[in-house]
Amino acid sequence: MDNQCPHAGAATKIHSATSITSRRLSNKHLPGPPGHRIMGSYPEFAKDRNKFLREAIRRYGDVCRIQLPLRDLIVLGNPEDVHRVMDDTSGDYSKFGNYHPAMAKRQNGLSFIEGEIFRERRRIVSPLVTRDGLKSTFQANVDAYLDTLDANIGEATDADGVTDLQEAIFQTLLRGVLKQTYTESFTAKEMRELHEGMATFTKLLGSTLKIADPPNLVRPWGPYKIRPWTVLSAAKIVKDRVVERQNSPALGTYGDVLDGMVLGYKKLKTPMTFWDLCFDVATMTSASYGTTAGAITQTVVRTLLDAEATDRVVEECGTIDLSQPSVDSVRSLRWVRACFEESIRMQGFPLLLRFTAVGGNLQGLDIAPNTMLGAPISAIHRDLRWWTDPDTFDPNRFYDNSKRVDQPRLLHFLAWGAGPHRCTGAQLGYLIAPYLVGLILSRYRVEIPPNWTFREETGLAPTIKGGFRVRLTRR
Ligand code: HEM
Repeated sequence: MDNQCPHAGAATKIHSATSITSRRLSNKHLPGPPGHRIMGSYPEFAKDRNKFLREAIRRYGDVCRIQLPLRDLIVLGNPEDVHRVMDDTSGDYSKFGNYHPAMAKRQNGLSFIEGEIFRERRRIVSPLVTRDGLKSTFQANVDAYLDTLDANIGEATDADGVTDLQEAIFQTLLRGVLKQTYTESFTAKEMRELHEGMATFTKLLGSTLKIADPPNLVRPWGPYKIRPWTVLSAAKIVKDRVVERQNSPALGTYGDVLDGMVLGYKKLKTPMTFWDLCFDVATMTSASYGTTAGAITQTVVRTLLDAEATDRVVEECGTIDLSQPSVDSVRSLRWVRACFEESIRMQGFPLLLRFTAVGGNLQGLDIAPNTMLGAPISAIHRDLRWWTDPDTFDPNRFYDNSKRVDQPRLLHFLAWGAGPHRCTGAQLGYLIAPYLVGLILSRYRVEIPPNWTFREETGLAPTIKGGFRVRLTRR
């Protein structure tokens, strides 16, 4: 899978806020649900974001205005428009609205910047988890999974023998992510703080981006804790590791992601602050954790709900040595990969946001400058115009060419995003996710309680609401 930005060489122009080309200064002319006086459509949107967005596109068309408190959201239902916006490198559309001159001059985290300073940093980070870095990061994850999966399952099992498999998957992924990023080990307390801190940060960021509900700060306990102060503890742990590494005489010999980032960032033409470095290290840690653990859990669950798909996973995994996998042997697991791709197509990732600088025209409709645009990933992934029988889990659509949709599939499959900010870790994700799914389903028989129903917690890292409580026996 090509992970490079297709426009890597294109020149960037960051517009000033005054270079307006759209004829409109507001989006009030755009079609969309009428909404309530102050809250707009927020109550209906927050109740079920994906259902609401799907219905809004169906009723009002592919450029649809959703009125929300403070700021409207313009949703794009056509993948061609989504690509036009997300593949843009001209500065007309950006991830966090840095069209503003003040924002454009500022340094910031990798995910918050555009233009040449972004591309320079991305050229350092990408190879750490692709090309040369792919084999070693994959191996670090495999070592951690083989060392800790059984113990994590034991930890997540209660006195009645019921295991929260989602919790065990998150804990196993955490070990992998930490091992690929930091060679040094972590105490149990540090790991707990990192786990909670990253989960809380993902939830807070998700709610800021309107992707998830605000965290429940009134009742911040239970197995899936949201405790804002843990973000600070996790940030401190990352910061201390960065300082230690910067001062280490052995810098350059660790062979982990942190080494590559500390060394690589020293060579940047555009100087960056110490805090930007810490922020990027934290982004690489948390971006590879929650989304992947959530996606793996969902793949395990959706596959298990289809007995034939599960049998094929187990059978296919029998063709390779799971205790000593290589990049090529995992890539040969085409059915497991298809189950993973089909699951990330179906999962409820509601929106990727971009902002217009100078406005634009999509589907013949003028869009005002400084507009928040949303690519409704889940709605596009379940749109009957692009997918046949979209609510059915059918890995064959990613396995068998004859069962693919007529139009170019890549355009409609947006699970990794698109354009310059497309997921940096997609190649790694395509290895660690099928591997861990295969390892779990080949090692364990899973008994799902008969009355269990699939309830999804949508967000930046869609998970199973309340966990996945099952009985496991060794095969
Ligand atoms: C199934 C697993 C994963 C999924 C579904 C996923 C999905 C995504 C998506 C949709 C974006 C684009 C966000 C946007 O455009 O606004 C993204 C960005 C990102 N992902 Fe992933 N991701 C996964 C795993 C990983 C892994 C394993 C890494 C490891 C390094 C990673 C690192 C990143 C980073 C650093 C970004 C920010 C890129 C940027 O802003 O330039 N992700 N991911």
